[in-house]
Amino acid sequence: MVETATPPVPAHVPADRVVDFDLFFAPGMDEDYFAAWKRLQGGPALVWTTANHGHWIPTSGALVRELWADNVRLSNKVLAVTPGLGEAMDFIPLQQDGKDHHDTRAAIMRGLASRYVMALEPKVVEVARELIAGIAPKGRCEFMGEFAEVLPLHIFLTLIGVPVEDRARLRPLGAQLTRPDGSMTVEQLRDAADDYLAPYIAERMANPGDDLFSRILSEKVGDRPWTVDEAKRMCRNLLFGGLDTVVAMVGMCALHLARHPQDHQLLRERPELAPQAADELMRRYPTVGVSRNAVCDIEVDGVTIREGDIVYLPSVLHNLDPLCFDDPEKVDFARGLNPVRNTTLGAGAHRCVGAGLARMEVIAFLREWTNAMPPARIDPAGKVTMRGGNVGACTNLPLVWDC
Ligand code: HEM
Repeated sequence: MVETATPPVPAHVPADRVVDFDLFFAPGMDEDYFAAWKRLQGGPALVWTTANHGHWIPTSGALVRELWADNVRLSNKVLAVTPGLGEAMDFIPLQQDGKDHHDTRAAIMRGLASRYVMALEPKVVEVARELIAGIAPKGRCEFMGEFAEVLPLHIFLTLIGVPVEDRARLRPLGAQLTRPDGSMTVEQLRDAADDYLAPYIAERMANPGDDLFSRILSEKVGDRPWTVDEAKRMCRNLLFGGLDTVVAMVGMCALHLARHPQDHQLLRERPELAPQAADELMRRYPTVGVSRNAVCDIEVDGVTIREGDIVYLPSVLHNLDPLCFDDPEKVDFARGLNPVRNTTLGAGAHRCVGAGLARMEVIAFLREWTNAMPPARIDPAGKVTMRGGNVGACTNLPLVWDC
């Protein structure tokens, strides 16, 4: 739950850097996540917001990227600007630094090697086709609930080798994660996820199979095996990291195609463009922001980020900065051929370990959706709504099409 009390601005923050920008509820966020963030552009390159207990936000794309890649002066321990969230989640590898992070991440990366990811592609295609077959004859759907939230959950369950029938049990947790309604605290959500995962973790540690958890847990952390506590925190990170991010991205792709039917048509006629379209859509619709805490004083842009200060890094202010990307709001699939490193999937030591999987899911979605569906439109009787937060996303995406 986000608290709104406004603490005093610390003495080291110059008055001309102070803004009131709530990354969860900034004005206009519920209509357009990207436009709401872009209102910070054009001012100082680094601002201090009084919202959410006070933290820094770099607004220039170059500074967002520079600080994102700086894992020497900035730590990942804090996880989020929301008090208590970092302590509750204690993710591995996301909240680790230095050697601890290096060792667990190396094991996870081996488990997510591209040959395993590619082996999963037919499953993604199968699930996408099944979902499309269910909604296509209806002529309308609320895309987030009926498609975007289901696909990654299904893929995740397949990846960790648990029965897809478990979807019903995990689905409400996924929904709480992507659309928290306040009925569960963060701790309750974590515990519910842990309760679900615990038997599978125990089983995979005792009798490894060929699923993702087994592969990762069979790897060494440095020169020793995973502890049960580490295994829990890692599996929790994969679950929380790999669901709502993909939900949000698939939703943004569907929104784009509904608003640009010519792109839908193009991909239908030329499915070979799907990989570069995926790269460009992921650049254009970056929805993740991350938090860091300074472990020393950092002089930047004429101000001091004090040791202990929180810095929030929104990928949107990097990817949509005209000084970093030409005409950044334009979607140009050709741009995907020579991608300039954007921060949709992060930068530096913590860059997304699920990047290959995420990209494969988005490509498969674009191919299957544009092939099997006529161009969909935003339902004129409905309203597209979005939410801000650490993962911005559509919360309502009503689509209609001609059957
Ligand atoms: C489009 C979908 C996705 C997006 C936009 C995304 C975005 C990101 C970003 C920005 C980071 C960097 C975090 C930081 O710097 O603090 C990250 C890290 C991470 N992601 Fe993803 N992610 C996606 C999909 C996935 C999937 C499918 C998985 C699971 C397999 C996953 C698991 C993780 C994990 C475990 C980390 C932590 C890596 C580390 O700390 O070394 N993500 N992701």
